[in-house]
Amino acid sequence: MVLSVRRTQPSTTNIIKLKNELTLSALTIIKKMALKYTDKVMDHFLHPRNLGEIENADAKVIEGNIRCGDQIQMQIKVDKETKVIEDVKFKSFGCASNIATASAVTELAKGKTIEEAKKIKWKQISDLLGGLPAIKNHCSVLAVETLHKAIKKYEEEK
Ligand code: FES
Repeated sequence: MVLSVRRTQPSTTNIIKLKNELTLSALTIIKKMALKYTDKVMDHFLHPRNLGEIENADAKVIEGNIRCGDQIQMQIKVDKETKVIEDVKFKSFGCASNIATASAVTELAKGKTIEEAKKIKWKQISDLLGGLPAIKNHCSVLAVETLHKAIKKYEEEK
């Protein structure tokens, strides 16, 4: 597309044509910028598991990534005898990967003992989702760190 400076007023037709060309260019740029997410990431993003809040949670935390500004709030309910995470729920304040990885972390942590859940690594979450774009790996780090922070808070308060 070539834009030239005109000395005369452009006609309405030319303005509409130029607007349409700019819209098409913007769409092309957006498509090129779009990240390639796996079907599993899209599934967790569109149908997040364990979304919401737990009434009378044993620990509630909010963790954020200082660089992107995204946050996750997470709550856990732990069986006092068995130390099994009975319930874990989250709220996302972030990107699609933030939602998908938080969803996957809660799914993996639920039913595990707190000692088992402490061993969950960000790479496990990324692998479970079929991989993440490299620039989105920190989203799974944030999700796992939020879970670990919730466990730490639970242990400190018990
Ligand atoms: S871009 Fe930062 S958590 Fe997703």
